[in-house]
Parts: sequence; C-alpha cells; structure tokens
Amino acid sequence: MSSGNARRNATIDEALVDSEKRYASANPKSLARHLAAIKYLPGGNTRTNMYFSPFPVTMMRGEGARLHDLDGHAYTDLLGEYTAGIFGHSHPRLRAAIVEALDGGLNLGAPNRWEGELGRLMCERFPSLDKVRFCNSGTEANLYAVTAARACTGRTHVLVFDGAYHGGLLSFVSANPMQAPFPYVIGQYNDLEGCVALIAQHAHELAAVLIEPMVGSGGGISADRAFLAMLREESKRHGFVLIFDEVMTSRLAPGGLQSKLGITPDMTSFGKYLGGGMSFGAFGGADWIMARFDPAASGSFVHSGTYNNNTLTMAAGVVGLRDVYTPEACAKLNARGDRLREQANAIFQKRGVAMQMLGQGSLNVIHMHRRPLRRPTDVVSDPRRQALFHLEMLERSFFLSRRGLSALCLPLTDKDVDAFIDAVDDFCAIHRPLLQDDAV
Ligand SMILES: Cc1ncc(COP(=O)(O)O)c(C=O)c1O
Repeated sequence: MSSGNARRNATIDEALVDSEKRYASANPKSLARHLAAIKYLPGGNTRTNMYFSPFPVTMMRGEGARLHDLDGHAYTDLLGEYTAGIFGHSHPRLRAAIVEALDGGLNLGAPNRWEGELGRLMCERFPSLDKVRFCNSGTEANLYAVTAARACTGRTHVLVFDGAYHGGLLSFVSANPMQAPFPYVIGQYNDLEGCVALIAQHAHELAAVLIEPMVGSGGGISADRAFLAMLREESKRHGFVLIFDEVMTSRLAPGGLQSKLGITPDMTSFGKYLGGGMSFGAFGGADWIMARFDPAASGSFVHSGTYNNNTLTMAAGVVGLRDVYTPEACAKLNARGDRLREQANAIFQKRGVAMQMLGQGSLNVIHMHRRPLRRPTDVVSDPRRQALFHLEMLERSFFLSRRGLSALCLPLTDKDVDAFIDAVDDFCAIHRPLLQDDAV
C-alpha cells in the first residue's frame, strides 16, 4: 500500500493543513462545482451530512463497489450510502426491475402489483410486523410511528435517548431547534436504573419509547440486551409503545437486529436499502396499532403520501429483499464486516494508536480515541483527527464518512477489505506519534 503523499508531521494541525492542501489540489473540479452550488444551495448541498471540510468531492457515477468523482479518482465505496446502498451500484437485477417498472408507466395513481408483495416479504422477515405501511424516508417512518403511538395510547410524551439520531427532525445529537415538536423525555442510552426511574416518573404520560437497538451512524454502540429487555417489560407494564428504529440495523440479521436479540418491539421503523436503493421508509408492527390504518374501518388514521407506493421503489424493493439480500447474503455480508472490525482493531492495537472500531456485522464506526463508549454522548472526538483520517482515506481511494461510518455493500470482496486494512495500517504507521493519547 502506498502512503500517498502523506508525511510525518509534528502536530495534528500541521498534518491536517498538509492533508487539506493535497486534497484541494487533487480536486479542483469538485471545488469549482461546490463553489457554484453555494450560490443556490445553503452550504452548496441539500443534505447536511454530505458536507465536510474543506469541501466535499462530487461523485459522478458508481459501479459495483466503486465510485468515480469529478476529478477522475476512483474509490472503493465503504460508505454504502449510509446503509441504503447495500446492493452496490447498478445491481443488474435491481436495474432490470427498475427499467421494467419505468417502462410500465411511472405514476399509476392506484395500488400496483408490487406493494402487497413487498409487504409480505417484510412481514415474513421481521418478527414485529403483523402489518406494514410504506412512506418515503426513515424520518417520515419515525414520525408516523411516534404519532401512531400517541394516537393509539391517547398519551403525549416520547422517551428518546440523549445523542440519538432518528432523522433530521428527530435528532438528539445536539441542540436541535428544528425538532419535531413532541414533548420528549430524554433518557441515557444503556442506563438501566436511570431509565427505570425516568419511566416510573413519566409512566402516566408516556406514549412511546423510540430507540435504535444499536446506535448506527452516531457510533456503532450496541444497546445491552438487558437494557432493551427492560424497555420491553416496562412498556408492557405501563402501556406505552416500544418502537425500534431499525432504519440502519435491519441489515444486521435476516430478521433485523430484533431477531438477533430475540426482543420484539410493538412497532419498527425502516428505510434505506429496503427500497432497493430508491427513496424509502416504512413503519409497521402489531395489529392492534396497524389495524387503525385500515381505511375501510371507521375513524381510521389518515396515512396518505403521493409516493408511498411509487412503482420504482416497490419494484426494486421486492427484488432487493426477495432475490438479492437473501438470508444467506445477509449472513455473508455481516461476517465480512465482523472480520473487518476485528482486523482494524488488531491494527490499532499493534500500532498503539488511540483508535477503535465499534459496531456489528456490516455496520461499523471508527473512533479516533480508545475510551469505552456506552452511549452516544460518550462520542466526543477531535474533529481534526477525524478530518485527517477521512482525507487520508480518500487520498488512498477509500470512501467512508467523515465520522468514520462504514456500511459494507454486497459487491465488496475480501480483497477490498484487505486493501482497506492495509490503508488503515499505513495511516497509523505514519501518524502514530500524533495518535497516542485520548485527550480531546
Ligand atoms: C437510525 C436512523 N433513523 C432514521 C434515519 C432517517 O432516515 P432518512 O435519512 O431516510 O430520513 C436515519 C438516517 O440516517 C437513521 O440512521
């Protein structure tokens, strides 16, 4: 593995300045596009987490597990579109399904031949689903799940966890003036005793608890099984709805993380890859809740949405879940991710650097310190170290997020994983003196 042009520096700041200079000079066309977009899009983009300093590269196309940018660089795609891109780029079976749907007329204004099948596939896969409804994003899925829980229980409050991310309008990562205006009770993730006390205090007004069974993009931090089992027990005891946000984690086992844990929530929200790479969200759960969405019943809940059953998503979703992300493919991909994490952590240990990779299966996050992480609020990292690692991975042709998220896609090979591990080793060897301590 070549170490690119990276060289040893005396300080992190110096190393970052060097790295940013190399990045800017290697990506003049991306910079020009970014500067042109800034005139019309705040910050030059339309998805906050796409931005990174000094400016993001512009992607032109993808192919299998490769991405190609505007300045002609090719990357191994380790980000997998934040878990939505599990199939890789232009998977032939998905492409064929999308083209067929396209040729059949896009907007039919009626139920189509795919949506019932996608519903069946999902209900058969995920234990908590008696019935399911589709929408257009994970954020929307969570908004529907929470509002359904409030409507069904006649209560108001929603228990969420400090530092959790459930979409732009449901982000508890930092102060969020754009929060969907529900009354929240904020608990600490994995704090069993504290949350039991909080629940006892608010039991009469709690409509739901919304939790990601492993914090995905925010850190790859797994909930203790005992913590989730407590939430399951308490929600039954006090009559509030347990909602698992499996927008990211549903990929971790054929029946989602809920099946791996053996804990079945009342409702689950989904999104990302389950739409076959097209815009997608879904929420579903127990019949006593989902039956309220039956439009033939009197007083049913209104859940409309022009694109809820859009033909491209429905067609791609069916083929993706039925034919491509089979239980066998799921097991293989997650085993590859487990190996990647083990190898990365072995490198960090061998090089004696303050880094760690956390996660499960194909969904992992690299942290630039080695402090134990029990909850999202423990994720306090030095943005300069994150930027240095990220830019130097780009320089070595590996694409992952600024915060170190990687979500493996199906076309990646063991050779790709080995090459990434070599790149990480090279980075650690060069910058070892700057990565010794946890001090941030
Ligand atoms: C756990 C979780 N929930 C919800 C969402 C929101 O999904 P979307 O971006 O499709 O609105 C995300 C997005 O990354 C997520 O990670």
